Amino acid sequence: MTNVDQLVSQATAEFAAIADAAALEQAKARYLGKSGSLTELLKGLGKLAPEERKQAGAAINGAKERIEAALGARREAIRRGALEAQLKAEALDITLPGRGLPTGGLHPVTRTLERIEALFRSIGFDVADGPEIEDDFHNFTALNTPENHPARSMHDTFYLENAPGLLLRTHTSPIQVRYMETHKPPIRIIAPGRVYRVDSDATHSPMFHQVEGLWIDENVSFADLKGVFTDFLRNFFEKPDLRTRFRPSFFPFTEPSAEIDMSCVFCDGNGCRVCSHTGWLEIAGSGMVHPNVLKAVGIDSEKYIGFAFGMGPDRLTMLRYGVNDLRLFFDGDLRFLAQFK
Ligand code: PHE
Repeated sequence: MTNVDQLVSQATAEFAAIADAAALEQAKARYLGKSGSLTELLKGLGKLAPEERKQAGAAINGAKERIEAALGARREAIRRGALEAQLKAEALDITLPGRGLPTGGLHPVTRTLERIEALFRSIGFDVADGPEIEDDFHNFTALNTPENHPARSMHDTFYLENAPGLLLRTHTSPIQVRYMETHKPPIRIIAPGRVYRVDSDATHSPMFHQVEGLWIDENVSFADLKGVFTDFLRNFFEKPDLRTRFRPSFFPFTEPSAEIDMSCVFCDGNGCRVCSHTGWLEIAGSGMVHPNVLKAVGIDSEKYIGFAFGMGPDRLTMLRYGVNDLRLFFDGDLRFLAQFK
């Protein structure tokens, strides 16, 4: 049956030359399909004499098995080849050094605010919050600020168009008012937040931060203000020898009022460029809460008394990190901000 052997070697050679799975199935049909060469041979068996038929049938069946085996082997080889090619194409070089995940960091002013909050919490102050869009009553009127006060002028305050009586708060003091409207003394809070004024240069930004402080109880004195604030600054700057100075000043909502200076943290009060050779840095406004403010929120001003202060955490951040331009904090330049990570 050379005919059959030839067919097997022809099929094996043909399969071997095929690299594509679909083409291989077509080749299979040419031998084993309905009208494939081997099938045709089987059909021819009927014409043979019985003894020849038996022998030829066995040979054809043997050939069929060998062709199927060759086909199976080729299928497997093609499958493995495709897998290898895929693995190679998708290979990862695990020896490459990683690129690393860039990590974010807290904004330097946020760091300062968190530090201030932690220090005041440690002496029993709560942290209060209030709206940045305020009304005239909370920002001015309740704070004993008269109609003709310059802070109320269009030059100093951002008023909302088409919303009479609404403005961007010019200080965090309205949070005092809101807190006292909803809480009874004793009151001990700080209130950090953004405030807005029509002002812009190297040391002023139209948006900046303040932290308000308020302590109201039956016998809170100016000495308490001095003690609490001086202690805070010493802890904040980690300078136990830091000194403070309270200069008489004026705010409508405190009486008496004082500007708080601290000894320069760069030259320890000896005089340098940062403190304009005075040895002192201005750091907060403060005073004893005016009785009219307590009256405006319904607190008995004969029974209760206390102090308030408002400081600039942006300034504290500049001093703590040695930054010389306030605007750097609000430009969003990552080259600057990434230094604080
Ligand atoms: N609110 C004042 C300001 O913005 C600061 C201040 C707060 C003064 C509390 C006294 C008491 O200038």
